Amino acid sequence: MHRLFVAVRPPEPIRDLLIDAMDDSPEFRWQDDEQLHLTLRFVGEVERPVAEDLADALGRIRSARFDLRVKGVGRFDQRNSGALWAGVEPREPLGALAAKVERMCLSVGLAPERRTFHPHITLARWKGWRSDEAEAFVVRHRALASAPFAVDRFSLFESHLSRHGAHYEEVASYALE
Ligand code: 2AM
Repeated sequence: MHRLFVAVRPPEPIRDLLIDAMDDSPEFRWQDDEQLHLTLRFVGEVERPVAEDLADALGRIRSARFDLRVKGVGRFDQRNSGALWAGVEPREPLGALAAKVERMCLSVGLAPERRTFHPHITLARWKGWRSDEAEAFVVRHRALASAPFAVDRFSLFESHLSRHGAHYEEVASYALE
């Protein structure tokens, strides 16, 4: 099985800005440079033929390149874990691209994504109860912002999970027009 997702990799200056916002708080597992991405669609585990169909279908997407910028930070709190993330704006061109990716996922027989698209770049994860520390990070970095950067491609990634964390391998990349 292949654990897949579709995402945009921010360019190096943007990743550097995000890494600069990270600190050495031991309660958080900070993402490495190679892990930083903006998910358009989490696919999950699929068999190889579906992965190949999806890789082909994504290549049929026609979409204009657009600009994004990092804007603000936030957190997802789950019962026993959570994530710190950086936001991006504007929402619309990204939402439109995510909708095209969704259509291609449906065309290869994947179940529809029911969750609302919430564009974000995960910066760190935690286990247990870290709401106070997470809130302190959010307050400290609420002004985080970058210059606009061009989104001129998106990629299909395979996620390899191990004891040492997730390793994300780019398996295909698609240029925007
Ligand atoms: P996250 O960073 O907010 O956790 C690879 O796992 C990517 O797919 C991550 O960016 C992750 O988002 C995203 N993703 C979305 N839904 C997921 C799910 N149900 N399980 C794992 N990852 C998911």
